[in-house]
Amino acid sequence: MLNWDDFNETETKVKKPEVSKEIEKKVVESIKEEVQPQQPAQPKAKLEAGSRAEAARKSLDALDTTAGEEELEGMAGRVEVDEKALINCRADLNQLVPMKYDWAWGKYLDGSANHWMPQEVNMTSDIALWKSEEGLTDDERRIVKRNLGFFSTADSLVANNLVLALYRLITNPECRQYILRQAFEEAIHTHAYQYVIESLSMDEGEIFNMYREIPSVAKKAAWGLKYTKEIEDPKFTTGTEETDKLLLKNLIAFYCVLEGIFFYCGFTQILSMGNRNKMTGTAEQFQYILRDESMHVNFGIDLINAIKIENPHLWDEEMQAEAAKMILEGTLLEIDYARDTMPRGVLGMNAKQMEEYLQFIANRRLVQIGLEPEFAGVTNPFPWMSEIMDLRKEKNFFETRVTEYQVGGGLEF
Ligand SMILES: [Fe+2]
Ligand SMILES: [Fe+2]
Repeated sequence: MLNWDDFNETETKVKKPEVSKEIEKKVVESIKEEVQPQQPAQPKAKLEAGSRAEAARKSLDALDTTAGEEELEGMAGRVEVDEKALINCRADLNQLVPMKYDWAWGKYLDGSANHWMPQEVNMTSDIALWKSEEGLTDDERRIVKRNLGFFSTADSLVANNLVLALYRLITNPECRQYILRQAFEEAIHTHAYQYVIESLSMDEGEIFNMYREIPSVAKKAAWGLKYTKEIEDPKFTTGTEETDKLLLKNLIAFYCVLEGIFFYCGFTQILSMGNRNKMTGTAEQFQYILRDESMHVNFGIDLINAIKIENPHLWDEEMQAEAAKMILEGTLLEIDYARDTMPRGVLGMNAKQMEEYLQFIANRRLVQIGLEPEFAGVTNPFPWMSEIMDLRKEKNFFETRVTEYQVGGGLEF
């Protein structure tokens, strides 16, 4: 190893660079400057003691607490429950109480009680299985990759729709409180997929670009994006029948179709894998996500139905036909996705069974928003999925986690 002390020993091979005396002097002076403690900079014009605080007080005294009343209307007085409305509300949106929509507040509390983080799930056995050559069949690998490809971006689409489009247009603090909770859960879901992709050392470029490059994934993403584009423009406002209907269509697209249908083939496949003791860490992540998602869907359906009740003129024949068409389009896209991800029978299921399951789910979504079911005589071929989703059936599921968070989150002074 070379250092300046033994430079002479290598003199024959490397010629020491000649440094002029002047440059050497400058370098030494600059080093001295750096080493010497710096004097604190003196303010050019010293302010008189307390003058800045005085200026701040004057500025506060001049603050107009009635500013903004004009644009928000009706905000000067106390908020009455009757003034609250889900869309186009004119009452103060900064005030949570008095509450009108207890169902929304209840879901915010339930969501918060189910907090979890992806790093808590042990991924060791998944890593070993993914690396081993005989661990999974090619069809099983395809399922894992396709689903991570779809979900890693789909949850970001949902989060962006919530924050950039819906939050502004839903004019109720109880619902906004849930939307904020849901937005954080979507961030946790995207984190979970990224965590799995990273743990398994997958090609991140391949997985995260599937929503552009794999047609069965890309079509689902493009279908959802179409409905965000209509309302995400910051200049877009509701208040006419046409614009209110666009907002309602967005709610149906995201809650009934994207979260209510597009997630179901993938969740069933990964959870079925977990049931067979394969990729159990990934399956556990998906299980937590599915519980959150079923609550998102329930909130969305309550919101859609409550908007219909408050604005019955929006739910005319044309809108009902449009809503049914959207749900059926989504079902067809998800059936295509099932065929693409399961070209053959795998994990004890096949695309035909998945088609029936998706028709069963579609019927349910239609009925949940007050429409006639479409597919006669279909039953649920995967009843175990309903059990996983129903939070009330397994009350103890999150008990230990909630306790840990309560301890971990306590403040000490
Ligand atoms: Fe999600
Ligand atoms: Fe969601």
